Amino acid sequence: MVSNKLTSILNKKSLLTIICLIILFDLLYTIYSDSPPVNVLEAPDVVPSQQRPNGILNTDQVMKYCDMKFNLVENCLEYLDTKEDEYIINPSSPIPECNENEPPMLFHVFWRGMITDKLTLQMKSFLYTQPLACSKLYVWLQNSDTDIDMNPFAGFIYKKFSPKNIEFKKWDTEEQLNSDPIYNGWEAIMSGHSSVAFSDLVRFVVLNRYGGMYMDGDVLFLRDMRPLYHSGIDFSYKWSFKTEYNTAVLRLHANGTTSRKIISQAMKEKMNFHPFQIKKYLLADTNLSLDSPTTKSIYNSALYMYSVPLFDPLWLKNDRRQKNVLSPNLNGMDDVWDPNFIPGEFPNIKNINDYSPLDLRKADNFFRGAFAYHWHNNWSRELIPSCWMGVINTAYDSFINGTQTNIYGEYIKY
Ligand SMILES: *[C@@H]1O[C@H](CO)[C@@H](O)[C@H](O)[C@H]1NC(C)=O
Ligand SMILES: *[C@@H]1O[C@H](CO)[C@@H](O)[C@H](O)[C@H]1NC(C)=O
Ligand SMILES: *[C@@H]1O[C@H](CO)[C@@H](O)[C@H](O)[C@H]1NC(C)=O
Ligand SMILES: *[C@@H]1O[C@H](CO)[C@@H](O)[C@H](O)[C@H]1NC(C)=O
Repeated sequence: MVSNKLTSILNKKSLLTIICLIILFDLLYTIYSDSPPVNVLEAPDVVPSQQRPNGILNTDQVMKYCDMKFNLVENCLEYLDTKEDEYIINPSSPIPECNENEPPMLFHVFWRGMITDKLTLQMKSFLYTQPLACSKLYVWLQNSDTDIDMNPFAGFIYKKFSPKNIEFKKWDTEEQLNSDPIYNGWEAIMSGHSSVAFSDLVRFVVLNRYGGMYMDGDVLFLRDMRPLYHSGIDFSYKWSFKTEYNTAVLRLHANGTTSRKIISQAMKEKMNFHPFQIKKYLLADTNLSLDSPTTKSIYNSALYMYSVPLFDPLWLKNDRRQKNVLSPNLNGMDDVWDPNFIPGEFPNIKNINDYSPLDLRKADNFFRGAFAYHWHNNWSRELIPSCWMGVINTAYDSFINGTQTNIYGEYIKY
């Protein structure tokens, strides 16, 4: 009956075909495996390498140790790893509890093309570190798998964790940009400038609409994000040694003053959401020069520019801006993919030849203190089991299949 009426209204065969295709596509994307939420328990006989934090992050306190003008990356990381009692504080107003009745922390990633082992690595890092009773990841997909359960890397995750913890969502530019008048005129801009950088745009669109935290697909979650997520501020982090934002990590509140200011400025600039534009947008309509101390306090109060080590502990060393001794003591972005020891990787171990990389590389000791690790685009590198990324991947898999605990001493009971 309904479809008869539709036919008479539309009366166009081609239109109907398109609608059918759209419905079919939507179905393919929204059919969830109906598995119940996974049961995460604390293992009674395990001493966890970390405790789940309870409270929010005191940014000023952290920056006393993590401002890279005055500190080294290793000092910042050590502080973050060992002094939670100093910088995790009670929130002045209550934050959501971690259970089914409260809104979850919401994370987003955007991906074009088929889901790879690397994107799956990020999803696994999310499952391994975040409190699953109150965390959700939206994976925004464009031109991607239509049957994710068949994907060789993400299939298992899809069956076990979707939709409770991970939702795979089809990115629809038209639907998204028509959802808010702030994007008025987008069609004209886009048709005139095919170069609009999509992933730079998507993060602002989804955060402005749904709120939460965006992470690029090459960023691993290393720690429970609750203290940052609930700290009440919008934030991103610094582009290596440049005083610019790197929006590979970006926290914005839905329809907030900051997100609306950035978007409305970007709309005036032909939808240019390049990270190097963001500071300028935040300073628009002030008459301040780009680099005075007052300027810094203005853009920081809108979008806090965290220092590099929190999300990207190897970047300053990779860029030869600091001579760090890190744990692991790697030198450049390539090193996490190397199956062999990097010279000096374990400075405290004298006779390194008595060991194999698998003896010494442990997932729990990968840049402790950092909230995330950004590996910077090495999408085509092979995930060899004895390279750092391989070691981490095995730890994630063992947690996800219920055979090992995570850093918080929790395991999944199937
Ligand atoms: C966003 O906020 C603006 C002003 O603060 C308000 O006019 C608008 O209706 C809000 N939009 C949504 C989608 O909530
Ligand atoms: C801008 O310039 C005016 C006049 O020089 C000054 O009074 C004001 O404080 C400046 N800053 C802003 C944010 O308007
Ligand atoms: C990996 O990333 C590093 C640092 O960005 C770059 O120099 C190198 O060429 C990349 N290697 C591959 C194989 O993509
Ligand atoms: C769980 O995953 C680990 C790491 O890949 C693997 O070694 C182990 O055999 C798996 N166990 C089960 C029961 O699937």
